[in-house]
Amino acid sequence: MHILQKLACNSFLICSVLAGAQRLPHTVVPEHYAIAFTPDLAGATFSGDELIRVKINRPGKSIILNAAELQIQKAVITQGLHEQEAHVSLDTESEQAKLTVSGELAVGPATLHIHFTGILNEKLHGFYLSKTGSRRYAITQFEPTDARRAFPCFDEPEFKATFNITLTIDNGDTAISNGSLLSDTVGPAPGEHTLRFSTTPRMSTYLVAMAVGRFQCARGNVSNIPVRICGTPENDHLAKVAMRYTFEILQYYNHYYGIKYPYGKLDIVGLPEFAGGAMENTAAIFYRESLLFIDEKNSSVESHLAVFLVLAHEISHHWLGNLVTMQWWDNLWLNEGLASWMERKPAQELHHEWNVALDALNDTNTALQIDSLRDTHPIRAKVETSDDIHAMFDPITYDKGAAIIRMVESYVGPETFRRGINTYLRKFQFRNATAEDFWTVMSQVSGRPIDRIMRRFVSQPGEPLVTVKAECSTTKARSIEDQGAQQSMLAQQRPSTDITLTQQRFFHDGDMDNNSQLWLVPVCIKTGDGETSCHLLQHRQTFVRIAGCMPWVFANTNAVGYFRTQYAPDNLKMLAAVVATRLSTPERVSLLNDEAALVTAGKEKIGSLLDLISVVNKKPQADIVESYRRTLEVIDSHLVTVGNRESYHLWLRKTFHSLLAQIGWTASPQESGETRSLRANLIGILGKLAQDPETVTKSTALAHQYLQDPASVDSTLARSVLQVAARAGSAALLNDYLKALPQMNTPEEVGDLQQSLAEFRGPELVGQVLSFDVSSEVRDQDAPSLIAAVLANPANQDFAWQWIKTHWEDVERKITGSSGVQIVYGAGRFCDAGHRDEVQEFFTQHKLLSSERVLKQMIERINSCIKYRDRQQDKLALWLYEHNAMDSKQ
Ligand code: BES
Ligand code: ZN
Repeated sequence: MHILQKLACNSFLICSVLAGAQRLPHTVVPEHYAIAFTPDLAGATFSGDELIRVKINRPGKSIILNAAELQIQKAVITQGLHEQEAHVSLDTESEQAKLTVSGELAVGPATLHIHFTGILNEKLHGFYLSKTGSRRYAITQFEPTDARRAFPCFDEPEFKATFNITLTIDNGDTAISNGSLLSDTVGPAPGEHTLRFSTTPRMSTYLVAMAVGRFQCARGNVSNIPVRICGTPENDHLAKVAMRYTFEILQYYNHYYGIKYPYGKLDIVGLPEFAGGAMENTAAIFYRESLLFIDEKNSSVESHLAVFLVLAHEISHHWLGNLVTMQWWDNLWLNEGLASWMERKPAQELHHEWNVALDALNDTNTALQIDSLRDTHPIRAKVETSDDIHAMFDPITYDKGAAIIRMVESYVGPETFRRGINTYLRKFQFRNATAEDFWTVMSQVSGRPIDRIMRRFVSQPGEPLVTVKAECSTTKARSIEDQGAQQSMLAQQRPSTDITLTQQRFFHDGDMDNNSQLWLVPVCIKTGDGETSCHLLQHRQTFVRIAGCMPWVFANTNAVGYFRTQYAPDNLKMLAAVVATRLSTPERVSLLNDEAALVTAGKEKIGSLLDLISVVNKKPQADIVESYRRTLEVIDSHLVTVGNRESYHLWLRKTFHSLLAQIGWTASPQESGETRSLRANLIGILGKLAQDPETVTKSTALAHQYLQDPASVDSTLARSVLQVAARAGSAALLNDYLKALPQMNTPEEVGDLQQSLAEFRGPELVGQVLSFDVSSEVRDQDAPSLIAAVLANPANQDFAWQWIKTHWEDVERKITGSSGVQIVYGAGRFCDAGHRDEVQEFFTQHKLLSSERVLKQMIERINSCIKYRDRQQDKLALWLYEHNAMDSKQ
């Protein structure tokens, strides 16, 4: 417990407020669990026999722990030789069980012995059942608050303990858990065998894991750590890439953290059904198949990057999260923000070709977009209920968390930061930490005010807008000391660049309330002479003077800042002139992202953004095109009118045709991933947005070829051509897509084809796609995002929305846990008052788990879009008119 909380808890009143209604008291603390499970996969139930060794800190007659959807048959509390059977009362609301005995329990050690039974549910959390074909699997997913559905436990991250798991399962099945397999013995009943796993190091309950069923594993060994990549037999041949990356990552981390991987072995398991992307259960990482199993020869650049980053994320948690865990869910960013920052380090070092700096910037931009809404929340926010806790797994925790860490790392230097992380891990290993613990260590090690910088970014909502105004001036400088007394009276004329930096909170709609909020913002300024100077903004306004008259200044060196920038018009003009030559790719993208946000906020004109896009296109790069692609889509769906659609498409074709012509349609064997991605992006823009006939024809031909033989089309290109073809496709093509689905060979092929279904148009086809998405042919884990994609497609959104409302029961059946949030995100793509009100009303009546704040954010986003259209529609029309007029003169 944090020291402040400890002090406060001496007073009963304050302590109970701090603990919150559903928190467990700290009067009894677990030390060790020994649990024997007997799952019955055919009957979809399980039984358990559990011994918990606890320490009683305060005398009393009852012990409270968590349990949900469990039946407790018997509970006995033993102290020394004194055994007492407890009366058990279960509270479904608080998901707690209270064990009460008649004789007083004394301070000191005690053992709880509990017999319980439960159900293997089909909701992809707790202990759940997954059916594939004729086989069944029993799988756990406990984070954040579902271990209590598998065994009675102290289900809060602070109650770390050691675990000893035993599983009795059918002879045809095997099992994987956190510990190494110690023994595998016949019985006790005929047809069964019993697997005993080694005792784990101290860890939180949400990291306990079990998977039962038929698995096949590829095996390897990194620095004496046995590694296995396991999955259903169908995926056995697809484990090579993941194995290779796991080796690279483990080696990198052993070195980076300066603490060797502490959990003895590592199993990575792809599961037939999994709610999230992946889960860092200690030494038994669980996965959805598509993020783990990719074909060695033909899989896209994006898939390789995703597999690497997810592995790097989950493995990084073994130090940042599992070894040192946030004390409570309000500091979830200490797990997820740190892991999201860390995941890119091994990729940055080992795979330059992926340009992960840009990938990071993309995530930062996602966070900045949400954080500019009024309904954002601080990285660290008060949470009590399971619903609150689930809602914390969002881009603020992950991406803003990672962005702040990256900014501070860059401020103190990577090696100093690494030493800080190492000290933090050593100090708190096998225990828990708070935000204060983190930044206190980091400040001590670095000798820099990391605590002051982070505290504001972590506890305040929102983001700063840094406005930049640079002027060249000739100042009077006296050179007294170095020139000697004689010359001291002579004033010299020396040119300098005077920069005024102002900070204020940025809102997406441009309303700049007179908000008094301030941050400590590390800003590094790159200037025309190639130098960079760094400053810590503390007040509303900061003046910086740089020697020499600089033609341009750029106030976000390496694009690592968590803020938006706006330049004075003259400064922007000068910057635009060098954007393609003097800024690095991440810097260019950050400038484009900031300009796009300013256009939405009505602080820049849409035309200057499009001009900037034209300028950066002189040096086409996949990441740059990718970064503004969404802007082009939004323009197409919300700013363009019937009157100027042709003109917009003409501009798109003109701009992107020549870029595509430079690289052609066919990938050569030696071609870089970068060029492949660029091609896929250009084809997407030309085919889907500009509806360029040639691109559509070629894409459709390739799509047909893909349906016959997916391996014959470059996989980086596949997703794009499938979408372009679908965008222009008929009912016959949709049928071809649906018929081909069962023939696909890898999770990637299935995913690409399923996702492209969202592009088909017209009520009939959209209805058919949605019916398919809610059918049993689509796994529950995939359905919500597929439905959301149809809803997010501007061409179909009205029809899709009506369909979803009238078929809500079918849709709801496909929602597990908080996965429905994705549909709320999809509904955030509307841009008119009528739909806004419908969305508000519908989701108020049909409440989805952990979606309350997202609904508010989406309503705000729709309002912002409406304003954006009102502000920029005419300006776009004018820009298009001037552009096409200009071209016809040439
Ligand atoms: N700890 C999370 C898994 C998780 C997410 C549990 C949400 C409970 C609720 C894991 O480390 C994670 O962040 N997984 C991501 C993928 C990751 C690479 C960003 C996921 O599942 O989406
Ligand atoms: Zn994570």
